[in-house]
Amino acid sequence: MDLKSLIRTIPDYPKAGVMFRDITSLIEHPEGFKESVQKLADPFRDQGITHVAGIEARGFIFGAGLAIELGVGFIPIRKAGKLPGETIGQNYALEYGVDTIEMHAGAVKAGDHVLLVDDLVATGGTAIAAISLIRRTGATLNHSAFVIDLPDLGGAEKIRAQDVETHFLVE
Ligand code: PRP
Ligand code: HPA
Repeated sequence: MDLKSLIRTIPDYPKAGVMFRDITSLIEHPEGFKESVQKLADPFRDQGITHVAGIEARGFIFGAGLAIELGVGFIPIRKAGKLPGETIGQNYALEYGVDTIEMHAGAVKAGDHVLLVDDLVATGGTAIAAISLIRRTGATLNHSAFVIDLPDLGGAEKIRAQDVETHFLVE
């Protein structure tokens, strides 16, 4: 299936000049959604992955499917203030300002092998923050999977520079 053709582009969202790659048109297509989760999982079926970590919000959609596909648990990486238990947090730079992502302290630990999942890499800032956060727990994070890379923004190279392999379905 041509997954790329199922991802629609919305011009000028969220601001003028941006061509927004929108995965809602992919996930509302039953075969397209299923195939995208299966293809995201394919390189990781025998890699000893113990957990999938997905980044809020669109990383939850694909990450949850991937965790079920791989038969492992799902760890939500959330925007600050959303998780009820004790958390650890990581700041990251936005175009204007700073944001924070959090995970539950103790959700993963040394000896665990975590696969990071999100819908899209743009600058890579969100994924790099998630990698730092997860590695601070002592868990191993060497693999990541995303539906879309925006290669002109260079995020994938920054992720690989952290010694994390990247797997993308479309550019
Ligand atoms: C988008 C996307 C990634 C991130 C990529 O999420 O889903 O998580 O931005 O950008 P980066 O590579 O430049 O960090 P967003 O922060 O818009 O959150 P949402 O999924 O809750 O809409
Ligand atoms: N689509 C979805 N999320 C994004 C994009 C995009 O084109 N660019 C940065 N975050």
